[in-house]
Amino acid sequence: MEKKNIDWGNLGFGYIQTDYRFVSDFKNGSWDEGKLTEDANVVISECAGVLQYAQTVFEGMKAYTTEDGRIVTFRPDLNAERMENSAKRLEMPVFPKDRFIQAVLDTVKANAAYVPPFGSGATLYIRPYMFGTNPVIGVKPADEYQFRVFTTPVGPYFKGGVKPLTIRVTDFDRAAPHGTGHIKAGLNYAMSIHAIMDAHRQGYDENMYLDAATRTKVEETGGANFIFVTKDGKVVTPKSDSILPSITRRSLIYVAQHYLGLEAEEREVTLDEVKDFAECGLCGTAAVISPVGKIVDHGKEICFPSGMTEMGPVTKKLYETLTGIQMGRLEAPKGWIQVIE
Ligand SMILES: Cc1ncc(COP(=O)(O)O)c(C=O)c1O
Repeated sequence: MEKKNIDWGNLGFGYIQTDYRFVSDFKNGSWDEGKLTEDANVVISECAGVLQYAQTVFEGMKAYTTEDGRIVTFRPDLNAERMENSAKRLEMPVFPKDRFIQAVLDTVKANAAYVPPFGSGATLYIRPYMFGTNPVIGVKPADEYQFRVFTTPVGPYFKGGVKPLTIRVTDFDRAAPHGTGHIKAGLNYAMSIHAIMDAHRQGYDENMYLDAATRTKVEETGGANFIFVTKDGKVVTPKSDSILPSITRRSLIYVAQHYLGLEAEEREVTLDEVKDFAECGLCGTAAVISPVGKIVDHGKEICFPSGMTEMGPVTKKLYETLTGIQMGRLEAPKGWIQVIE
């Protein structure tokens, strides 16, 4: 198959329309069989539930070209499960897990010409999503929904590749206790847009959100979980019911323990103890692991010993091992890699 003529090495994290997307409609209590289509437009009622009350959930995952030229995805079963939880929380019907995985595989296969080649530094981002389509004016769930999957080739999420980031502790809250912080719903991102724009205007790359109840514990950023390394080489990641359960973070904990022989724990992390860590990174499908060099807490700077030019040594090992698994250089734990072709 001939690849598209794209400058793979210089892609940013943006949308490029690809040839096919998967669409399935939910009506009268069931999903239709769905199909791949070349039509990238969505036509819905002016009063659709998604437009009025933001009834929409989504996922983010990637397809990779391995060293030996296969196209693979990483743990799509976990994205299917997380989307199931997101849908239930917003009173939306569940798109069945096996059908979710099949729709992802079919969409990637149909757009194989857009999957960046091995070694280009780019990947094919996959966006499954679902939204309420029929008119809803009183606040209640829609009766009709659309599930779609599109793909777009992407480069690094943060400009500057692996240059360490500067993050500020923000006074905005991302998620309330017992709210929706743990699901991947558009509403969590709408409210983060002002906070991230404000951070950018003040020269920061991202926001560190604290727990809304006590403002003493580290939660996450607008689009990634935190991972810390202690001075004695232990990997620590914040535990909270109001952060998104990152598939990258869960995978990194396993990699730390089973590939690198490191101790790793998920526990509450207070803002007060952040100054004592040796390394810090942001992890997620888009961010992979992006090193954090500095955190600014209302003018007080926390500078990690790993510095502002390179990834810390443990972060680097985690990064290389995880990407090694995703790109087929290292053997993956059973079930992590789904081969597409
Ligand atoms: C708020 C938030 N946290 C964490 C993550 C990381 O999750 P994952 O590793 O499953 O991509 C994401 C998505 O990338 C996110 O949007």
